[in-house]
Amino acid sequence: MSFTEADVQGALKQLTDPNTKKDFVSGKSVKNIKIDGGNVSLDILLGYPAKSVVDEIKLQVENHLRASLPGVGKVTASVSSKVVPHAVQRGVKLVDGVKNIIAVASGKGGVGKSTTTVNLALALAAEGARVGILDADIYGPSQPTMLGISGRPQSKDGQSIEPMQGHGLQAMSIGFMIEGDDAQMIWRGPMATQALDQLLRQTKWDNLDYLLVDLPPGTGDIQLTLAQKVPVTGAVIVTTPQDIALLDAKKGLKMFEKVDIKILGIVENMSTHICSKCGHEEHIFGAGGGEKMCADYNTEFLGSLPLDIRIREQADSGTPTVVVDPDGQIAKVYKQIARRLAVKVAEMAQDHSAAFPKIVVQNT
Ligand SMILES: Nc1ncnc2c1ncn2[C@@H]1O[C@H](COP(=O)(O)OP(=O)(O)OP(=O)(O)O)[C@@H](O)[C@H]1O
Ligand SMILES: [Mg+2]
Repeated sequence: MSFTEADVQGALKQLTDPNTKKDFVSGKSVKNIKIDGGNVSLDILLGYPAKSVVDEIKLQVENHLRASLPGVGKVTASVSSKVVPHAVQRGVKLVDGVKNIIAVASGKGGVGKSTTTVNLALALAAEGARVGILDADIYGPSQPTMLGISGRPQSKDGQSIEPMQGHGLQAMSIGFMIEGDDAQMIWRGPMATQALDQLLRQTKWDNLDYLLVDLPPGTGDIQLTLAQKVPVTGAVIVTTPQDIALLDAKKGLKMFEKVDIKILGIVENMSTHICSKCGHEEHIFGAGGGEKMCADYNTEFLGSLPLDIRIREQADSGTPTVVVDPDGQIAKVYKQIARRLAVKVAEMAQDHSAAFPKIVVQNT
């Protein structure tokens, strides 16, 4: 044998993780290197869900080590991912069963928050993450429809409520509690706050890597509650390219900055219209607005979705694009955005509160 652990590390330093764009050593993904005779084994632990790329990364690592280490025998890389909790606003109580909460917000209504939330959640789940959706739009809940879930949540202990299940996601919405005309009820500020807090904390979320929160539009009571009472890892802003939506999006962005919630990036929805008859692509709401906003505010442009009738029809009928056409072009864009989002979360500061030792007072 003519190589050492340092040589293995050195070789892996030359190899870039295609998702984080960092080498595996700087990305702290390399664990457990073992050299046994001329054989090498190691673990690569990714901080983001990566089911679709695990095999590719395994091959890339193994081939590279075979080519770089002189006299190497068998090379075995075991690639897996583990999502950990990341830091949230100071002083906000964590939620049991949830590692990371991601808020999906916009200034203006109707820009596609709910559609984006459900498709990104499904894209994260398709990559192997455990994902939930909290429909925080208590004024006009959309998620029961978009997930195609009906019925009422059950309680096993008379206190907590079991999340509903749809397309592999856990979900909770005021829409499951009140139906029909009652769903249009008017909430006064404190009631809205309490409703959101209860939906979040009474639901028995089961070991979620990510809980996506679908917000109502604007900067009202629900947003305020979110900032003060919900432990948020980061927020995604959805906008359409028109100037007015962007102005509103900027307001939303500023609000989160003020309350110490990190912005993970911006998704531009309804960017272009592709004619279903002739395929002609048109920027009917203007072009490049989202990208410009990101440059102005030093925020990442996560990607853009076209205005496409299939997105509307599929989401509104309870089978969003990412489940019904998982290999199509649109699902691909949602999956790219979800991957980017997960990588951004993985790069954020970790939450170590759970790792603090318990202080025990002993009577002597
Ligand atoms: N990219 C798209 N292409 C076509 N239709 C879309 C697209 N995105 C969203 N829609 C449709 O536009 C409508 C509004 O979308 P959605 O409900 O997701 O917006 P929202 O921002 O959540 O609205 P609100 O502010 O009322 O909560 C829905 O009918 C949805 O199906
Ligand atoms: Mg909505």
